[in-house]
Amino acid sequence: MKLLESIEALKSWQASVSVSTTGFVPTMGALHAGHLSLIEHSRADCQATVVSIYVNPTQFNNPNDLANYPNTLEEDLRQLRVAGVDAVFLPDYNLLYPDGFRYQVEETVFSHELCGEQRPGHFTGVLTVVMKLLNLVKPDRAYFGEKDYQQLSLVRGMVEAFFLDTEIVGCPIVREEDGLAMSSRNLNLTVADRSHAPRFSRILASACGDSEAVQQLQSDGFKVDYVRTIDGRRFGAVLMGSEERPVRLIDNVRVG
Ligand code: PAF
Repeated sequence: MKLLESIEALKSWQASVSVSTTGFVPTMGALHAGHLSLIEHSRADCQATVVSIYVNPTQFNNPNDLANYPNTLEEDLRQLRVAGVDAVFLPDYNLLYPDGFRYQVEETVFSHELCGEQRPGHFTGVLTVVMKLLNLVKPDRAYFGEKDYQQLSLVRGMVEAFFLDTEIVGCPIVREEDGLAMSSRNLNLTVADRSHAPRFSRILASACGDSEAVQQLQSDGFKVDYVRTIDGRRFGAVLMGSEERPVRLIDNVRVG
């Protein structure tokens, strides 16, 4: 597995391998079974798989959230080797943002809804970094999890709007045995919050309507950001943890 820490290293690796299809899994590290399933999909579809690990500061609107984002690089690299990944791209801020984030990719409608309402600028950070990564890695396919459904749909829209040559593949949510959607942020849950957290997806799935879900989540002790159903899919976000160590959980389930 090649570790690529510069654009030159990425380009010379690309020139040295002659593969018919490249799959790409962008990540912020702290890998879990959800990421590994994206890698499995890529390995099944493509001749080579590239993973990027980069905690993108421009998509964090809460400095505490960025500061507390888990970093497990050595363990991540071990898992990626075992998973049979061909190359890992490890850029840093100067490499990805030579412009200091003066140039941005903004979607003006859906990015302001759901997660975008409480996290202004979040999706501009996501779309900008994904655009940069797709332009550098030039994959045939890029794999995104359906847990971040809004992100998946905005990335798809961006690829269409800018005529990019990458197919965006959405992969099903991977859940813990108790139903909690896998997320790197789960590592930051206290033991008590971790055992309570699965109630979130259960209530999202079982409530009769969105306002009933909000009510049940609140009486269960969750701080609710939003619950909203769009086209038969109920989206939700809740906050757990403390102000200094907030843990934001998002999820979505099919309803009705
Ligand atoms: O889903 C994520 O981990 C991030 O938003 C992504 C797509 C890697 C962009 O930083």
